[in-house]
Formats: sequence, structure tokens, C-alpha cells
Amino acid sequence: MNRNEAKQVVHGGLEDFLNGGDAFSRQDESDDTRFYALDRFVDHLDTVALATVEKLIDTLVVDKRPSILDLMAGWDSHIPGTIEADEVVGLGLNENELSKNKDLTEFVFHDLNREPTLPFEDNRFDVVLNTVSVDYMTRPFAVFREVARVLKPGGLFLVVFSNRMFPEKAVKIWRESSEPERVMLVEDFFKASDLFENPKTFTSKGKPRPKDDLYADRGIPSDPIYAVYAEKKGEEGVRATRPTLAGEEKRPLNAEEMKAQREEVKRTLCCPHCGQKMKKWIIPDSPFNTWQNEYMYICFNDECPYLVRGWDVMSRQGNASMSYRQMFNPENGSLTPMPVPNLKALKDGILEEDE
Ligand SMILES: C[S@@+](CC[C@H](N)C(=O)[O-])C[C@H]1O[C@@H](n2cnc3c(N)ncnc32)[C@H](O)[C@@H]1O
Repeated sequence: MNRNEAKQVVHGGLEDFLNGGDAFSRQDESDDTRFYALDRFVDHLDTVALATVEKLIDTLVVDKRPSILDLMAGWDSHIPGTIEADEVVGLGLNENELSKNKDLTEFVFHDLNREPTLPFEDNRFDVVLNTVSVDYMTRPFAVFREVARVLKPGGLFLVVFSNRMFPEKAVKIWRESSEPERVMLVEDFFKASDLFENPKTFTSKGKPRPKDDLYADRGIPSDPIYAVYAEKKGEEGVRATRPTLAGEEKRPLNAEEMKAQREEVKRTLCCPHCGQKMKKWIIPDSPFNTWQNEYMYICFNDECPYLVRGWDVMSRQGNASMSYRQMFNPENGSLTPMPVPNLKALKDGILEEDE
């Protein structure tokens, strides 16, 4: 972006700037209805990630007998059995998938890229869901405004996405953005409309991939889940009872408990969070390294709850793609988090003879 373009963003607004360029162009500009005419009764996420999506919906939809719109729906709306909805309307482009979607009470065939105006009256829905599909919107600013129109004041718009996509139909800006940038982009769609209360974000990343998954043997974690959600401005309504996603952070230990924990780890060399034996990790030679000792002990259990919840904790602190493993320093007996950007990081330094 050159200086003049940057000025344009600041003064003219992001919406005008992005709509004026090729940000929402696609490799395949053919009619969406033709692309989606092909039935795709597939899971777009692995089962662990799908369970996270259901849990998210379960936690955030607090309305009694809500009226729900699933925007860009397929054959599954991921609505947990605990939610007894008054209606669930699906809007999408494959009638066969929509008609087999057990969550839906009715469905509408509608191409949002051709016509972003939603075919619903004002203030109809308590909740609008959009799952793994925002990347295909070529007119997202208009669609987000429309969502606000059809939501009741205080109603929830929950946008969930991952990092898988049909690249030929995903818009350029999405394909070319990093995962944290995509979170910011969706936040911008909300903010530009000025019709929602401050958007919040959620990240679930680095959970172990299900053992029976097609890609289980490739050493990659479960598909990440990102969500950006906000409520339509207006009366408080059920908003007051919607929980903030506090993740699974534990109550902080007091000084005495921390001392006892350190002593226990020193005695057993087991992770205080999962109980697994920590591994000896050789500190790499680096000019940035300030540790005096040769090695540390680190928990390398990829399913350790400390590591798993760390992705969410870090993301809420502004570090969207990091977690941490528990590290024990045998020199001074301290227990500290060791930041990691992925599950493979640091593993080169494991001293295997300690197993
Ligand atoms: C990856 S699938 C996700 C389906 C579903 N939301 C889910 O969570 O499994 C993308 C969906 O977006 C819908 N879609 C894509 N382009 C669309 C458009 N222009 N207008 C309306 N729906 C569209 C398709 O019908 C398809 O079901």
C-alpha cells in the first residue's frame, strides 16, 4: 500500500478503499450457484474443531427458544441439541444440502454475492450464524449491515472460520492474509457498519487432531477455530446474560500453593497440569539466551491442558498465534511458561535418552 492509498483508508474508510480495488476478486468469478450446485456432504472441519464450534454456539446462544438464521448454510448448522430454537432458517446455494439439514425449519436459496439484501423483514432473528463461509463473501460490508437489519437489538452475529477453504472461490484479501489478519478483517466488517456493539474474538488452536482423522498421521493439530462475534446495538435484552468467553483459565495459585507445586515438580519432574513426565530440553546456543544452565525440563505433551488453553489465553492478550508449554528450571526451581508458535517448536532440543 503506498502513502496515498494509506491516506485514503484513513480518510475515506476501509470499506471504500477495499471495495474500490480487487480485494474481493476471486480466481473463479463464475456464477456461485453453478459452483455450489454440486452436493458436498463433507465435513469442512475435523471432529474436534466441529465440537468446538458446537460448544461456542452452545455457550453464546443464551436466548430461550431463539429464532436463528444460518447464513451460507450447508447440510449441517452445528446447532447443539441443548438449544431448542423456535426456528432455524438456512440461507445457501445448495437445495439438496439445505433440505437434508436436520437443524433447519425452513431454507431459502439466495446468492448473497449477487444480492446482499437479505430476504427477511427487520428485527426477525435473535441470532445469525455464519460458519466457515465469510471468506466467500464478495460484498461483506453490505452483508454485515443487512445482518444488523434482520437481527433484533441485542441479537448476536457469530462469525466462525478456520483456515481451510475452496481457494478458487475465496476472495483475494482472504487468501493473501495471515490467520490473525483474517480475524482483524472480520472485526473490520463489524466495525465499518457501526451497527454492532464492540466485537469480540475467540481462538481455539493447537488442540490434538482426532486419531481417526484422515490427516492424523501428518503431525498437524486439529483445524483452528476463530470466531468474531458482536451484538446489534440497541436494547440490552438477553445481552446481559451472555457469558464472556473466559476460556478455561484456572484460578491463580496463591504463594504457598505455588511453592508446593514447584517442590512437587522438582521431586517428580512431572507436569503440574497433565501429570506427564517432563523432558530434558537442551538450551540452544543463542546470543539472545540469558539462561546460565545447559538444560530445562519442558512438558511436551501435545494434549496438556496448559498448552491447549494457552492458544485462547494468548489470543485474548493480543497474541493470536501463540501458546506456551510448562517449563521447569532445575537451577533455580522456577516454573514458567515457554512460548511456542506451533506443536513442533522446541522439539528438536529434546534429549531423548531421558525418556
Ligand atoms: C464451506 S461451506 C460451509 C457450509 C456450512 N456453513 C457449514 O458450516 O458446514 C460454504 C457454504 O457457503 C454457501 N455459499 C457460498 N457462496 C454463497 C453465496 N454467494 N450466497 C449464499 N451462500 C453461499 C454455500 O452454499 C456453502 O454451503
